[in-house]
Amino acid sequence: MSKIAILCSGGDSSGMNPAIKRFVEYSFSKNLKPYFVYGGYEGLIDNKISQANYSDVTGIIHRGGTKIYSARSLRFKEKKYRDIAAKNLKDLGIENLVVLGGDGSFQGMQIFFEEHHIAFCGIPATIDNDINGTQYCLGVDTALNVIKVATDNIRDTASSFKRAFVIEVMGRDCGYLALVSALTSGAEMCLIPEIPYDLNSLKKRYLKEVEQGRSYFIAIVAEGLDNAERISTWFEEEIGFESRVTTLGHIQRGGNPTVRERLMAYQFSTYAIDALVSGKTNSVICYNDGAFNFKSIDEINAKKYEIETNLLNLGKSLLNK
Ligand code: ADP
Ligand code: F6P
Repeated sequence: MSKIAILCSGGDSSGMNPAIKRFVEYSFSKNLKPYFVYGGYEGLIDNKISQANYSDVTGIIHRGGTKIYSARSLRFKEKKYRDIAAKNLKDLGIENLVVLGGDGSFQGMQIFFEEHHIAFCGIPATIDNDINGTQYCLGVDTALNVIKVATDNIRDTASSFKRAFVIEVMGRDCGYLALVSALTSGAEMCLIPEIPYDLNSLKKRYLKEVEQGRSYFIAIVAEGLDNAERISTWFEEEIGFESRVTTLGHIQRGGNPTVRERLMAYQFSTYAIDALVSGKTNSVICYNDGAFNFKSIDEINAKKYEIETNLLNLGKSLLNK
């Protein structure tokens, strides 16, 4: 019976648990022996690897986070530790690895594969949705829904108090979460690293809108700009609105995975295992324009993620109405 392992690396995201559940159940149905690596690349180095069974994955489909833990591992950036990690897998006779993670984790996997040729398939998983080559990463839908609920709640108080609220959302250097959230929650302002903005022209527009009856503002800003406090002060001083900042923070990383997330997780794990069984050695299962497709890890890592042009254009029109 061929052995296959799964690990989660980098920032955890909702959808990892449903993917792990499907991994175990589908492995058994394909006559593979499933293993968990606990704690990402750290667990690989420290040999925290053990066989998984059905009871490990009961009652986890509705849980955010990851039952098998995730980690950021400085040691994995050093060859001597990657050698230990490879030896641990080889000693256990594990020939295939499924890796759930973000772009950093995939960079690590590319190097690991070049050095040790252990077959793997990557599953994109990060709330930032910032992996080149795929339009969807596990966790982004749940994070967007968390932001939606928070923004709707903030709107209740913003409208009651005639205030400006600046809501900072996660995404590291990427504005995807902020952009989609702004477009889907009726925000007046959306500031992201990918779109240049001019506060003077926004000021003219907002003052006119206030004259025409606008009585509160919702601004969504990406954490990558690190400007929430400045924008809040700007609303007070330039637009004349009392203002508050809400930094949503790590609540965006948790929560009951949405239906979309669970379905994507199910399919990602299925495709990943099928790929490994069919002999693919270094690919990532991607989702683009409604279809699943495999890309090589080299292609994924060759470029930085860019938000799709049509989505960016919607963001530009929101900013420059
Ligand atoms: P994410 O995968 O969510 O982007 P990180 O950027 O923190 O998260 O990356 C996760 C882990 O991937 C890192 O802690 C490290 O162990 C590994 N990694 C990232 N870049 C490299 C690299 N250049 N070489 C080896 N390992 C890497
Ligand atoms: O990559 C996911 C993410 O949540 C980013 O959006 C954020 O910048 C970062 O991780 C936070 O990292 P940590 O959990 O280590 O504080």
